[in-house]
Amino acid sequence: VNVIETERLALRQLTADDAEFIFGLVNEPSWLEYIGDRGVHTIDDARGYILNGPVTSYAQNGFGLYLTVLKDGGAPIGICGLLKRDTLEDPDIGFALLPRYWSQGYAIEAATAVMSHARTALGLKRIVAITAANNTRSIALLGKLGLRFERSLPVTDEKAPVSVYA
Ligand SMILES: CC(C)(COP(=O)(O)OP(=O)(O)OC[C@H]1O[C@@H](n2cnc3c(N)ncnc32)[C@H](O)[C@@H]1OP(=O)(O)O)[C@@H](O)C(=O)NCCC(=O)NCCS
Repeated sequence: VNVIETERLALRQLTADDAEFIFGLVNEPSWLEYIGDRGVHTIDDARGYILNGPVTSYAQNGFGLYLTVLKDGGAPIGICGLLKRDTLEDPDIGFALLPRYWSQGYAIEAATAVMSHARTALGLKRIVAITAANNTRSIALLGKLGLRFERSLPVTDEKAPVSVYA
């Protein structure tokens, strides 16, 4: 069942059957650099990541990260949706596509639809985003979405500083 549809994309809930795709996505160099190592080293780890992350969030929050697929052909291209982290007061938007699907406007198309779903279907008033301060593609996308830099989070390790947009 699609939660969100746009002109070119459908966003639907992830299930354990998407483990192979998620395994590839979370081990992309760009994911590891800008989002982090989720310790997903096997397809079984990926199943656990899906069940403990997005699937738990659908039940607890009524939203989560969704699988993003091309309507034309049905190929999965990435994930986009909302998260509720213990470390942030407000829900945040997240997105990641396989690199071969970058630069075609798919991420902004999915993220715009997620923002409007958050506002109209979920009634959320404030959405934030967190991004590594050197993630220029993500920051460009957040600007197009209308989110503005708000603050930097305290640096916790050797990684690039993390910025909060709202
Ligand atoms: C962040 C990420 C999703 C951005 O993807 P993206 O494809 O650059 O984002 P957009 O959808 O906004 O696409 C913009 C590009 O598409 C082009 N484009 C082509 N057709 C378009 C269309 N119909 N509409 C809008 N833009 C279009 C734009 O000109 C722009 O080109 P550019 O790459 O030369 O600047 C992607 O880089 C990614 O998955 N990164 C790894 C994971 C990550 O860092 N996630 C964020 C964590 S905070």
